[in-house]
Amino acid sequence: MRPFYVTTPIYYVNARPHIGHSYTTVVCDVLARYRRLTGAPVHFLTGTDEHGQKIERAAAERGLQPIELADEVVAEFDAMWAKLGVAPDDFIRTTEHRHRLGVEEMIRRIDAAGDLYVGRHDGWYCTSCELFYTEKELEDDKRCPIHDEEAEWRSEDNVFFRLSKYEQPLLSWLRDHPEAVRPESRYNEVKSFIEGGLRDLSVSRAGLQWGIPFPEHDGQAVYVWLDALTNYVSALGFGRAAPEDVLWQRFWADDEAEVVHVVGKDILRFHTIYWPAFLMSAGLPLPSTVWVHGWWLKDEHKVSKSKGNIVQLDGLIEQFGADAVRYFLLRDMVFGQDAAFSDEAFIDRYNSELANGLGNTVSRLVTLSRRAFDGRTPPIACDDNQLIARAAEAVDAYHAAMGRLQFDRALRAVSGLVSEVNQYLVEREPWKLLKAEESRESLSRVLWNGLEAVRIAVSCLLPVMPRVSATVLAAIGAGGTTSFEHQRWGALEVGTELPETGPLFPRIDKEGEEEETDPMISIDQFFETRLRVATVKTAESIPKSDKLLKLGVSLGDEERTLVAGIAQQYAPEDLVGKQVVIVANLQPVKLMGVESQGMVLAASVEGEPVLLHPGDAVPDGTPVR
Ligand code: MSP
Repeated sequence: MRPFYVTTPIYYVNARPHIGHSYTTVVCDVLARYRRLTGAPVHFLTGTDEHGQKIERAAAERGLQPIELADEVVAEFDAMWAKLGVAPDDFIRTTEHRHRLGVEEMIRRIDAAGDLYVGRHDGWYCTSCELFYTEKELEDDKRCPIHDEEAEWRSEDNVFFRLSKYEQPLLSWLRDHPEAVRPESRYNEVKSFIEGGLRDLSVSRAGLQWGIPFPEHDGQAVYVWLDALTNYVSALGFGRAAPEDVLWQRFWADDEAEVVHVVGKDILRFHTIYWPAFLMSAGLPLPSTVWVHGWWLKDEHKVSKSKGNIVQLDGLIEQFGADAVRYFLLRDMVFGQDAAFSDEAFIDRYNSELANGLGNTVSRLVTLSRRAFDGRTPPIACDDNQLIARAAEAVDAYHAAMGRLQFDRALRAVSGLVSEVNQYLVEREPWKLLKAEESRESLSRVLWNGLEAVRIAVSCLLPVMPRVSATVLAAIGAGGTTSFEHQRWGALEVGTELPETGPLFPRIDKEGEEEETDPMISIDQFFETRLRVATVKTAESIPKSDKLLKLGVSLGDEERTLVAGIAQQYAPEDLVGKQVVIVANLQPVKLMGVESQGMVLAASVEGEPVLLHPGDAVPDGTPVR
């Protein structure tokens, strides 16, 4: 199977990790896990971009050395990835020696190709982008189009890279590799940008202290983007004549390797023009695909430190768990487009698809199976039912979407399958089959089918919700599902033990209060309870009880005796003549020697009953629904 190398951008160390960084990184983690489940060798890289004037300034503002700031923020990124269940194979920092070796080797090769020269550089510079702009590209008041900050005029001697020489080679590369930049809209954007003409690029900065010294050019430091982009190869051992270069061979140099960079649209040009041009010049293979996603917005602006509208995920992770946050990030953003973040959207998605959808379906199936089959999965499997085709369709749709990074669709297919299972249970009503011995066989089939379809659905969730999926699989007796090979119908073992598990996703209301996970019932189940209006004809206290009253009620054609725990709130004489709502088909019980033939409904205000009365007088016996 093709080796798969996936990278996040390396993040600047002037900002704490927020939803934007987390999104890209979770996407890469999901891709890495997904590919591993298909059996491919995978290498997943993330890291930090620590050089440049921007970092130098941010550190100075806090009275720190740049490396002190970097160390502090790196620890935060590390902690965030651990919290989010992100497990990279490597974390590269541009201040590491191994990286410097890679950058020096890159420059040596580009120079050997005759692509470097010294020239004068005048232009408008945005420090946040670390990029020169032409006057035309700037907004009003010479503001940067990305950061809305004022650009500064700079004029200095720099080392230039002959980017213009790569105009045609880049266009040929794009023509021959339609998958080089995805989604297609971004491919078209890059192509027309190149067609508009490329100017040579200044790849050094004069007087920059906090950077890698430019080889052979005293007083110049390597331009941060040439420095930063090289991380993708330096992390694999490029530039080091060391035996561990096997990573380099396997995940980059080898034709077989599939190299995927995931980036936000803000850094599209760096990855689809500069980076491939540097690689061409250095005589190195190009990445297979640069996947470009949109922005998380808050109040219609890109979430970013410079906008001051940061969304941090720590709180959500603490309250709902990392897996729910990962699910939301992938489910609520159409990869490639922008998405608006809100707590409400998070809670709605969580309640509908995780708590009520997956959580409830699993708990229903497991509870019924445990009860009916002595704590085990059902004893009889089934290979002929409507869920088999549904599951196969969902798995196909899921893989097709995952291959195109359409995570929202992939998860919709999975959540659709879970809903089908729920619907199937509502139709088959296994809870009705619990008691009768002659229904055991059909009960076994229904529950086994439900569990098997859930098993297949949850196997699709393994890359997205690694911890919860593993818990669910163990809870349904399928803990051994560790690869996509197990996605075919029929693998769930019969009669295997079902361990006890707590609730998976406690339901949350919008104020953030946890609720018990209520199992959903069908309308038919609701109508199994017969509610009727009745008039209280007599009311008296029950001797030796200070809580209970004995009520005589009329249902029109029938009189009933009820015992109600309302003596402390209601005087008997106040009740006579009042209409109340009763449960008319409750099995009679004896309370303090009196048979109660139904139950009076009351709202329960912190345990205190408040009787329900119809708003208008209605005939006794009127059904309530
Ligand atoms: N250091 C450069 C990248 C160098 S890669 C060789 C950089 N760093 S950054 O810290 O600004 O991170 C940029 C990346 O973070 C974006 O490309 C994107 O992946 C992610 N995001 C930051 N804010 C974002 C949103 N509001 N929404 C989604 N992702 C965004 O640029």
